[in-house]
Amino acid sequence: MQKWEEQIAACESLEELEQIRIELFGKKGYFAKEFESLKKLPAEQKPQIAKELNLAKNKLFALLQYKKDQLIAKEIEKRLQEEKRDLSLLKISSLKGALHPTLYTMDKIVEYFIALNYAIETGPLVEDDFYNFEALNLPKHHPARDMQDTFYCKDGKLLRTHTSPVQIRTMQRQKPPIRMISPGPVFRRDFDLTHTPMFHQVEGLVVDEKGRVSFANLKFLLEDFLRYMFGDVQVRFRPSFFPFTEPSAEVDISCIFCEGRGCRVCSHTGWLEVLGCGMVDPNVFKAVGYKDVNGYAFGLGVERFAMLIHRVGDLRSLFEGDLRLLEQFK
Ligand code: PHE
Repeated sequence: MQKWEEQIAACESLEELEQIRIELFGKKGYFAKEFESLKKLPAEQKPQIAKELNLAKNKLFALLQYKKDQLIAKEIEKRLQEEKRDLSLLKISSLKGALHPTLYTMDKIVEYFIALNYAIETGPLVEDDFYNFEALNLPKHHPARDMQDTFYCKDGKLLRTHTSPVQIRTMQRQKPPIRMISPGPVFRRDFDLTHTPMFHQVEGLVVDEKGRVSFANLKFLLEDFLRYMFGDVQVRFRPSFFPFTEPSAEVDISCIFCEGRGCRVCSHTGWLEVLGCGMVDPNVFKAVGYKDVNGYAFGLGVERFAMLIHRVGDLRSLFEGDLRLLEQFK
């Protein structure tokens, strides 16, 4: 008895303990043998010895169980120690990804037009002069080309300055009616607080039989769209000039920073310019061979929208990948 108790107490692993259990309580174990030999004893001794054996058996069984619980607890503790991670080593939270504010804004814009059943069209970034300028009523040496100077390849191709060439390609490919937007990167030779050599645009085009598309439709659409983007703002159309639209307008919203009272962001005018638009110039339809149609088009800069929505002061910071800025948009 003493021997068994000591063995159990000294036991250091569950495997060892299991071994002892088998030796004690197994079919050929200590107690099986003792009870077996009980049969050979004289009848008067049997009850006493059996009683002692049962007591010893119960005691050892309880000791074994107690030791088992102890060893399991020890095992768990050991594993917890071993598998413990040093959480200060990796800043897990900073590894959580999120959409860049420009992409977030792009998605929000695109979602609006998808809901209105507009098709999403894309095209090459390296364009022919024809698609980027000529077909858009911007003949060579036209002074309006200066507003969109860009990067040229040796073979005369250029990095597109707007996504309008996608509209030309789409009109060449399919017949009216057309209802499309063209999101994507564009390039210009600009670099200052509000301009970068590469930025993103979303332009839209709607074309249908003559008389079915009006400036009033365009105005309603853009007012609704701008309120979806910026909340309860006032919208103003200002006459302007684009070679590919006639009449043309620039669209302003009441300043979302000062609610129209006048501040630094809106140059104390109370208004923020957000997009360009107009009725498609007949010369553009001529270039793609469309007859008896009319339509409207509009174009916007995604970074400009992102700046306003997320209140980013310098447009260039959207391109720097500085985590201190980006982590604020998770
Ligand atoms: N393509 C013009 C630009 O990039 C934007 C625009 C599109 C203006 C459609 C009017 C109509 O400046």
